[in-house]
Amino acid sequence: MPCASSLPRNPGVLYGVRQFSPLILGIGDGEYFLASDVPAFLEYTRKAVFLEDGEIVRVSRDGWEVFHRTGEKCSKTVFAVPWDPVSAERGGFKHFMLKEIHEQPRVFEDTIAGRVNLARGEVEFEELEDFPLDFSRVVAVACGTACHAGMLGKLYLEDFVRLPVDVEYASEFRYRDPLLDEKTLVLAISQSGETADTLRAVELAKQKGARVLAVCNVLGSSLTRLADWTVYTRAGIEIGVASTKAFLAQMTVLLLFGLFWGRKKKTLSSRMMESLLEEIPTIPRKMRTLLSREEDIHALAREFYLFKDFLYLGRGLYYPLALEGALKLKEISYIHAEGLAAGEMKHGPIALIEPDVASFVLVGQGERRLKVLGNIEEIKARRGKVIALCNEGDGEVWEKADYVVEIPKTLEVFSPLLAIVPLQLFAYYVALEKGCDVDQPRNLAKSVTVE
Ligand code: AGP
Repeated sequence: MPCASSLPRNPGVLYGVRQFSPLILGIGDGEYFLASDVPAFLEYTRKAVFLEDGEIVRVSRDGWEVFHRTGEKCSKTVFAVPWDPVSAERGGFKHFMLKEIHEQPRVFEDTIAGRVNLARGEVEFEELEDFPLDFSRVVAVACGTACHAGMLGKLYLEDFVRLPVDVEYASEFRYRDPLLDEKTLVLAISQSGETADTLRAVELAKQKGARVLAVCNVLGSSLTRLADWTVYTRAGIEIGVASTKAFLAQMTVLLLFGLFWGRKKKTLSSRMMESLLEEIPTIPRKMRTLLSREEDIHALAREFYLFKDFLYLGRGLYYPLALEGALKLKEISYIHAEGLAAGEMKHGPIALIEPDVASFVLVGQGERRLKVLGNIEEIKARRGKVIALCNEGDGEVWEKADYVVEIPKTLEVFSPLLAIVPLQLFAYYVALEKGCDVDQPRNLAKSVTVE
């Protein structure tokens, strides 16, 4: 079987072989680039060819061609990547992460554009015109931050679509023998579309007959070529290793997908749909309000950046946010932080509370709010420090917590889209005060393409 070394040997020829890790050919003006990610050559060209496992690219002054390892030529699509070099620059911000946090109002607007039809009171996905209604269950698979988005997606889909949704870390799912069939929708969530565990999990799901919908941020990435359907987040290039705007976009897509599917299945009333859609145009403005309070969060970070242990507590929609807030803090400031379902405190974690343990408590609304106020009281009774995040005007929280971060009032389903902003800013400013490398934290990669 021919392989790269048996192809014609002559100078001025470059071969690239793609096997498990991503390999992309950038096609410039009389020049070519081989890279694992588009930003590496974005300032030179936006024309990209994405190779599959087992494919070999041959580049010379005469041009390029792609072969399969068996030797036969492959026809490949040249994608025009919808990103510009400027967006890959810091744009005056100290770090890419801070820039990307600030881009979130526009990312929200971009992600809903063309998908929310306020006049008709509908949500539409051109990518899902042939999406069937015969699924009996959903399994979301992802890693890290993307899995936290999946946990939020579970709550949205079960509420709007009335189908059971399981959420699994891809690294666990892929080594199990999961019970799947053609009635299972596997929801694969990934910013990069190249995370090895998520790709292997999707391959397993397809072997078992499940159909796959990808929620992904990178055009033409491996995941999008494995999935039966792909809904793109429109976060633009995310350079910071700690995912921020991509997470926001994932939450937004999953919320819209729940509304879209709920209306198709008629499990979501048009009246409920109308009240939810009415709130959508207010979200970017409310996010900008939160971003304008950035210095308050910086001041808060100065109070806490020397703490060694943090708990993040939330219930319901705020439980995945608690996990995400903890992940943001630990991955860029290297401070130990643990996200918890607030109801679990009395089952063990409350033993951790002491004056030098800080708790970030996410106080939602509705029936759980009083329970979370109880959590704050339990922590304070043991002299723990409490930062509470709550809706504007929640006076009871001000009476109980040491520090309060308020978010503008919104419908409960949208609150995670707002609450995440101060959590991201807090993690960023704690890491900044500690002098950490915010954009490229130690031991971490932007895309975990190896296992
Ligand atoms: C997020 O801040 C982390 N960098 C990490 O958890 C990331 O979300 C995870 O590796 C999944 O990456 P993906 O979305 O590209 O698949």
